[in-house]
Amino acid sequence: MATYRIRHCERLSGEISIHAAKNAVLPLMCASLLTKEPVTIERVPELTDVHTLLEILSDCGVSVRRDGDRNAPDSTLTLWAEEPQSPTSGDLLSRMRASVLVMGPLLARTGYARVALPGGCAIGQRPIDLHLKGMEALGAQVQLTPGSVTLQGTLRGGSVYLDFPSVGATENIILAAALARGTTRIENAAKEPEIVDLCTFLNEMGAAISGAGTGAIVIEGREALHGCVYRPIPDRIEAGTILCASAMTEGSVLLRGVRPDHMRALLFKLSETGVTLRESPAGLRLSGRASQPVQVRTLAYPGFPTDMQAPMMALALRLRGTSVFLETVFENRFMHAREMARLGAGIRIEDRIALVNGGRVLSGTDVTSTDLRGGAAMMLAGLAAEGETVLHDPCGHIARGYEDLPSMLNHLGAHITVEGFPEG
Ligand code: EPZ
Repeated sequence: MATYRIRHCERLSGEISIHAAKNAVLPLMCASLLTKEPVTIERVPELTDVHTLLEILSDCGVSVRRDGDRNAPDSTLTLWAEEPQSPTSGDLLSRMRASVLVMGPLLARTGYARVALPGGCAIGQRPIDLHLKGMEALGAQVQLTPGSVTLQGTLRGGSVYLDFPSVGATENIILAAALARGTTRIENAAKEPEIVDLCTFLNEMGAAISGAGTGAIVIEGREALHGCVYRPIPDRIEAGTILCASAMTEGSVLLRGVRPDHMRALLFKLSETGVTLRESPAGLRLSGRASQPVQVRTLAYPGFPTDMQAPMMALALRLRGTSVFLETVFENRFMHAREMARLGAGIRIEDRIALVNGGRVLSGTDVTSTDLRGGAAMMLAGLAAEGETVLHDPCGHIARGYEDLPSMLNHLGAHITVEGFPEG
């Protein structure tokens, strides 16, 4: 249980470094199941989701070694799987959806995988039908039992069309196809930077993958893969969250170690609010306070990222006029709106559309974190509210995806204190 006390803040300024991307690191960790040789991942962030996945991978027979001080930028995580096996504890899998990504590599490496069905979560049902469609296209027999799914078979190359460019399904199929006999083709594949990072990592391990970042990815299966050392891409969602916070205030913030080319949709949208964005060898700088309302439609990459919808809505609270949000990716991703309304925000929800009547005076009060990105958005909304906002995070949502968001914001001039255990 964590409680964050957030004071009103009118100015954020300074420089901050961005951590490695949670949504890149998690699939890279699962890829360690594909080889008995050690893979080393640099700069793994201190996140609850990373710790949970480490527990799951250990349960799958993966050996783990951490080198360097956990918070040091040169800390590394080394993993190797000499004799991988399906996880035995179902509850771990249900704690984190990304754990479904052990399915593909376990099946490819051992010919068998039994995983608990990852529960839906607050933001939506989050089925895995496309993951299973991919495994069947590679020749696996799939058996659904209450609460779990069992897959078996010797995988061979195949072709699969994804009805939606699912990030997780694309990753799972790539992980399985890397050791399948023959060629696999994924049509309508996800194009996210995290997909490109996974394919780059796998090619460093000796895989033969082409087309990453496009809708058509081709994987030539290999007999075996070997170890490698790899530095993941920076976290575009953490970076975007800090940019939204900065745009809500006066001041000028420089982000170091980011990839603006991974953030084009967000950067264009932020520019429409009236802030100034500059890219230089030193990093990405945002200056000035946002003022103009925006229209946001979340889409698969390279569209506006659904993970940035909530932080952008927090920014919209400060924009004079009506901003419009259309959430096309998840069916229930506006829960933060009711918490923002407790601060005095004027937000009207109609199915997947949110109308934000920005520019109102907000008053600090007790609010609750509804999910990972919604919780981060409430921390930003607290900066805009008069007085003090007390953000309760009983499930530790925020620490799942941000290494230390309060410290990052305090480094830039915010005043946020933390009580209890951020991990929940
Ligand atoms: C990944 O989730 C990210 N998580 C999410 O980030 C992100 O919001 C999402 O991609 C979209 O970009 C990780 O990478 C660990 P999807 P994932 O499969 O893979 C439907 C965060 O805040 N779908 O692309 O689960 C699904 O219901 C998290 O860091 C199917 O219908 O997302 C959803 O509506 C939240 N069948 C849509 O596709 C399937 O088999 C997008 O899901 C799979 C997905």
